[in-house]
Amino acid sequence: MCGIIGCVGTDETVSTLMDGLSNLEYRGYDSAGVAVQNGSGIKTFKRAGNVSEVRDALPDDPPSGTVGIGHTRWSTHGPPTDQNAHPHTDPEGRVAVVHNGVIENYDKLRSQLEATGNQFVSDTDTEVIPHLIAHYLDGGLEPETAFRRALERLEGSYAVAAIIEEEETILSARHGTPLVVGIDDGAFFLASDVPAFLERTSDVVYLEDGEIARVDPDGFSMMDIKGDPIESEIEHIEWDAKETGKGSYDHYMLKEIDTQPTALRQTIEGRIDPETGSVSLDGLEAGAFEDYDQVDFVACGTSYHAALYGSKLLQDAGVEATAYRASEYGASSNLVDDSTLAIPVTQSGETADTLSAMAEAAEAGATTVAVTNVMGSTAARRADETVFIRAGPEIGVAATKTFSSQVVTLLLLARRLAEDIDGTEPRDDFDEVLAALERLPDDLQYVLESSDARSVAHDYVDSEAYLFIGRHLGFPVAKEGALKFKEITYEHAESFTSGRLKHGPLALVTPSTPIFAIATGEERSKTLTNATEAKSRGAPIVLVTDDEETGAELADKRLTVPETHELLEGLLANVQLQLVSYYAANRLDREIDKPRNLAKSVTVE
Ligand code: G6P
Repeated sequence: MCGIIGCVGTDETVSTLMDGLSNLEYRGYDSAGVAVQNGSGIKTFKRAGNVSEVRDALPDDPPSGTVGIGHTRWSTHGPPTDQNAHPHTDPEGRVAVVHNGVIENYDKLRSQLEATGNQFVSDTDTEVIPHLIAHYLDGGLEPETAFRRALERLEGSYAVAAIIEEEETILSARHGTPLVVGIDDGAFFLASDVPAFLERTSDVVYLEDGEIARVDPDGFSMMDIKGDPIESEIEHIEWDAKETGKGSYDHYMLKEIDTQPTALRQTIEGRIDPETGSVSLDGLEAGAFEDYDQVDFVACGTSYHAALYGSKLLQDAGVEATAYRASEYGASSNLVDDSTLAIPVTQSGETADTLSAMAEAAEAGATTVAVTNVMGSTAARRADETVFIRAGPEIGVAATKTFSSQVVTLLLLARRLAEDIDGTEPRDDFDEVLAALERLPDDLQYVLESSDARSVAHDYVDSEAYLFIGRHLGFPVAKEGALKFKEITYEHAESFTSGRLKHGPLALVTPSTPIFAIATGEERSKTLTNATEAKSRGAPIVLVTDDEETGAELADKRLTVPETHELLEGLLANVQLQLVSYYAANRLDREIDKPRNLAKSVTVE
């Protein structure tokens, strides 16, 4: 939540910052702002609204200078107003700060500063930071020391960047939320995430918690909170900047749905030995998992649904597996010890709830294997092992292609675990699974080219509510279908296991509550029965299935997926539902890539 950026040494500081903020908007879009140091003081411009609105509102002569910081906000403390927008400054405007995270002791710090006469103008927790830095500058400390002393006073989480009057430097620090330095010829960047500056450079240094980066036109240096220098390692990011653009699409979401065949090819590439069918995953040796007898997935949102799908794939392979919502992991009565493999599934690798569940599992002795999309992410760095889903950058807030790549990665992982863990019985038809996996990108392409999702979406777009049902592997798909639908249409959508419908939810059913029934895999007949019960009460039925005959009498509308291995049909069914959500939201004229109140990367618990 919240994206921060800083740059030095570029020609057009404000427009570089604004472009970077546009690429970070998936982290929040309640307000945006920039502050620039131009030798005669710090000039700040900030507004409520998303980045493009703020860009349009920039004065004709925007602040000029060669050192600047910027911010796009997802509100935590205080509503999305001009006043609460970042950057925040001290009362004299000598220090400007952008921040991502939560300062837990801000109330206390604010009272202390107010007692010495400081006046605050925002409701944010962030505003205490520039006040503290200014306080230490007033005490005669050098800027860098003042910055470090201010950090020592903060409790909570932060990625923070500060500029100080008359200093051609950005000081930044990381504690619990991500921060990365980008290194270009003669220019340096700081940001919450690489897409902020990927068009300029893909050479990066990731900060660890407790590290401080100082960036000026001559270079960058790293230190710890005491000021002792730290060695850093420059890494090269493989992502292509073009992947972070919208291309000819109106929305990132549709682009990301459409590019799933490519994403899946990347996910699978080189991981299956064509001769033996054995699976290799990011250097995990054969036998790496033989000591574990229980797998706990921890995840949030769409990644939780992929984890739920994955847990069923593992159970199918004979491995004891449970998917937990990461925020509930600690409160669940799970028995975690050194025979537990904890698998955080997280596209961004930065979701606070997931990181916290991963830490709890590690604390209890579990080995952690992160399944993530983002190199250098906190999950990737903290986990004992990491398996990358290789979906390429995903910008739309509503996750699409990463769900598909997560499911396929978990299918491969399930195979590895089944081979390694004693007492499991790997499927004897795995050659058929592999053949289906190889066909999967083409099957998905077929869905994209032949889908009737647009007409289904338009037919039912005025309904009262939308219900999604499925069994076994169809259930995570139903959950994901409902989540996607509510996220981007703002309409009421719910999901149930098909069998649960008759135990309560049937009371909701009317002719204005279309039911999306996922009738794939071996469990389809019971789902058809449950859908029939709803149809008898007047509900229109949209059947997502793999042939023209299934539920011929029952279906008012049909979304067909190619016949494939039952383990993969749910994934294809999910693509149909992604398209339904997209077209419904588009018809309703919603902000598809930036749904209200949401952010892609949620770095607070
Ligand atoms: C937020 C986003 C969801 C995402 C979830 C988990 O809720 O809005 O789209 O699925 O976080 O994100 P992660 O990066 O951990 O997969």
